[in-house]
Amino acid sequence: MGRRMNLFDLTNKHVAITGASSGFGRHFAGVLAKAGAKVALGARRMDRIEARVAEIRTAGGAALGAALDVTNAASIQSFLDAALAEFGPIDVLINNAGVEAGAKTYEMIDEADWDFVLNTNLKGAWLAAKFYTERVRTNGWGGGNVINISSITDRRTIKGQFPYAVSKGALSRMTEVMALEAAKHSIRVNALAPGYVLTDVSRLLLESERSADFVKGIPMRRYGEFADLDGPLLLLASDASAYMTGTILVVDGGHACASL
Ligand SMILES: NC(=O)c1ccc[n+]([C@@H]2O[C@H](COP(=O)([O-])OP(=O)(O)OC[C@H]3O[C@@H](n4cnc5c(N)ncnc54)[C@H](OP(=O)(O)O)[C@@H]3O)[C@@H](O)[C@H]2O)c1
Repeated sequence: MGRRMNLFDLTNKHVAITGASSGFGRHFAGVLAKAGAKVALGARRMDRIEARVAEIRTAGGAALGAALDVTNAASIQSFLDAALAEFGPIDVLINNAGVEAGAKTYEMIDEADWDFVLNTNLKGAWLAAKFYTERVRTNGWGGGNVINISSITDRRTIKGQFPYAVSKGALSRMTEVMALEAAKHSIRVNALAPGYVLTDVSRLLLESERSADFVKGIPMRRYGEFADLDGPLLLLASDASAYMTGTILVVDGGHACASL
């Protein structure tokens, strides 16, 4: 009935990913390209973006790299337009770009820390979704799909994750509010909320002395790996999740269920 034989097939789908120069975003680009998607990679470190684009193309995938600073509205517009010019209508936008402020409490951060984290993690995702929605509507694409990369810190945090956890709490809530408002445009909005995976964002905690104890709080007794996110990512990016919107999909080995 018009559904794909392979539910997770992304052939000819166009996916734009923010923060694709390292960590999750870099990994997601490869997973999505392998599933058949044409991927547009954006971030500030263009050397890394170009290197990843070359790897994906060498593997037979379709990829484009474009400069992107999600704290700059004009840069977000340029990124979306570059992706559109190369691969046509954008089927999926992944708001993945994110930063943290170091191990700081609300007393320790200053206004610059607040602005740095909130402007990147929250305002950047809002603006990208807003500009994406404008393009879906004015170009008559017929619908769209936004995936926000939140975190289990949206609900389960530890001391010293301020204002990162605040930004992720708001990003998950923003996902639900946007889902409500975007449904009339046939745009789905969901969030992927990973637990802890070793990247530059989590390195400070996961490589600290505290790490060996901290991992014991995860019911599955291990940190996540990039591959743990592949299935949930493909679910949200594909038609397999056609009736899902406003969902916060937690992928954390049960961490959010634990009290310690
Ligand atoms: N690692 C974890 O345990 C974990 C868990 C839950 C959620 N997350 C979330 O996953 C997402 C990816 O983080 P990661 O863990 O993969 O860390 P990462 O390797 O540091 O990746 C962060 C990405 O965001 C990009 N970025 C930062 N500021 C940007 C800006 N102003 N404009 C455009 N891109 C920007 C960086 O690229 P440039 O510096 O080149 O611009 C980089 O590609 C983040 O939203 C993070 O909060 C991570």
